[in-house]
Amino acid sequence: MLILAIETSCDETAICLAEFSDSGAKIRENLISSQIKIHAKFGGVVPSLASREHVKNIFPLLKIAMKNSDYKEINTIAITNGPGLMPALLIGTNVAKTLSWLWNKPLVPINHLEGHIYSTFLEPQENDANNYKFRKLKFPILNLIVSGGHTQLTLMESQNKFQNLGITLDDAAGEAFDKAAKILRLGYPGGPLIATASNQLKANNKKLKLKELVIKLPRPMINSKNLNFSFSGLKTATLYLVQKLLKNHKLKDIIPAVANEFQNAIIETLVKKTIEAAKKYQPKTIALSGGVAANKKLREALEKEAKKNKIIFIKPETKLCGDNALMIGAAAYFRTKNKKNLAPWNKLIVNPNLNF
Ligand code: KG4
Ligand code: ZN
Repeated sequence: MLILAIETSCDETAICLAEFSDSGAKIRENLISSQIKIHAKFGGVVPSLASREHVKNIFPLLKIAMKNSDYKEINTIAITNGPGLMPALLIGTNVAKTLSWLWNKPLVPINHLEGHIYSTFLEPQENDANNYKFRKLKFPILNLIVSGGHTQLTLMESQNKFQNLGITLDDAAGEAFDKAAKILRLGYPGGPLIATASNQLKANNKKLKLKELVIKLPRPMINSKNLNFSFSGLKTATLYLVQKLLKNHKLKDIIPAVANEFQNAIIETLVKKTIEAAKKYQPKTIALSGGVAANKKLREALEKEAKKNKIIFIKPETKLCGDNALMIGAAAYFRTKNKKNLAPWNKLIVNPNLNF
């Protein structure tokens, strides 16, 4: 089944043309035009600029995606219809709708979070970047989705069937990484910058004897009786900690220790809640996805705990953690196969707050 998938929910314009079957995906084109440089100046995504850039980039990308293919070969068009930024979602959905109408192809609306979940099904093949096999996974799968806009635990009972177990009550984990990086004046996006700064801790501490200082941040809601998260207090605690440390230290000297403690606070909270959920819901598999899933220490920490509890652990390859259209195509393949969500183009609804 040849699927043209389009993703414009945030700051990446992404188009993927791939042939899907039960065994996996063979990519013809998988394109991402990132707007990071444009939003970096503002320390976060500016919705109106995101939509302007999607308008600019989407047709040139489509032209490249289709350069060696005929539209008649396409079986289905897949489109992210939420959650995300409304001005950004509207660009991709309108292009997908237009193509579906003009080319007379079925349109499959895909929940962006479902896309992230399906990124964990895609197993890369050695020496062939355009070839992925679908992992044969055991259900139920407990998903920890951690991105710039979302942090949630979602149980996947079978293909395309989901139940939310817990969500963040305020900031998402990725958003918290971005805000902490802003406090430390590291730049945007914050996640990879905090991770890199945290890796410099050992060398830096030796030089500065910072370990004599109490650098401790809270683990928000770690002992709450539910599976929800909250990261906005952690951001405020980071701000106060930095202000206190700056009285006696230069910013560059405290960055590694604060970054490391901040990263540990997030990882410990995410891992503890995921394992709690696993004990309650007894999944066969734990799957980590979303932009923050690129974090090496989080990947290692969750894998270790999953193994301790004798649960299979899976994660997407790093390049599929961030937003991409291949994961949207993969989710659409299973929806089409199971005959779910095959809306005619004129019934497509865009919902910035879409959830399961
Ligand atoms: O899934 P994604 O690409 O976009 C959304 O759907 O939000 O996630 C982007 C988020 C950003 O907040 C970014 O800082 C975070 O993922 N991120 C990371 C890492 N790489 C990206 N967070 C922690 N560690 C990383 N290595
Ligand atoms: Zn995302």
